[in-house]
Amino acid sequence: MSIFKQIKGFVFDLDGVITDTARLHTKAWHEIADQVGTPWSHELADKLRGIGREESLDIILRAGGKQDAYTDAEKTQLATAKNEHYQRLISTLTPQDILPGIPEFLHDLHEHEYLMSIASASRNAPAVLERLGLTQYFPKIVDPNCLHTGKPNPEIFIKGAAILGLEPRQCIGVEDAAAGVQAIDAAGEISVGIGDKDVLRGATIVFPTTSTLTLANISGRLKEAA
Ligand code: BG6
Ligand code: MG
Repeated sequence: MSIFKQIKGFVFDLDGVITDTARLHTKAWHEIADQVGTPWSHELADKLRGIGREESLDIILRAGGKQDAYTDAEKTQLATAKNEHYQRLISTLTPQDILPGIPEFLHDLHEHEYLMSIASASRNAPAVLERLGLTQYFPKIVDPNCLHTGKPNPEIFIKGAAILGLEPRQCIGVEDAAAGVQAIDAAGEISVGIGDKDVLRGATIVFPTTSTLTLANISGRLKEAA
């Protein structure tokens, strides 16, 4: 594991990495898109991954040519409606909803004394971690309310390292979104993508799913990529 010599911490995205809540965000946004008359597509769904609530709504409105059709107050209502729907969807999450391989991976990281933080754009991240029973692993969570700019800006991943007392070069970032991988790369961390390698082109290495995300596999793949 020599490649890991300088690595002391892991900075995790949450939605789509730890649990499949990316699907629930998508479901709630799809309903808003239908409401405002924006045609839904996989490409639009991918563009929303990792992007904050207000910016996501703007993307949906622009995609339907409706960027000037709503007042700020109406946009706030739409974003609130999406969030209320999302909160209903996450209210039934249990530890069974943690993605395959993640419990073992977190346990292994903990055993090997790696530091861990969460760099999620979601203001619902603490509630999701609570429902999944994972709060003990993540006492350190970047507060998205403190950010000036969202992903793909590196700020959230730089903060994710800083709250662990680490430099970005000492961290590996884990992400399912193209915007998130760009943010990790720009932060100067090693990027591990979860998903489609064509969508996550900039990632240092990509795993199609979390089920093979292990320290040994990351180490092996990083050696191949070096
Ligand atoms: C990200 C999700 O983690 O959080 C996005 O990938 C979501 O889909 C964003 O829009 C903001 O989440 P929330 O819960 O604060 O609306
Ligand atoms: Mg994500």
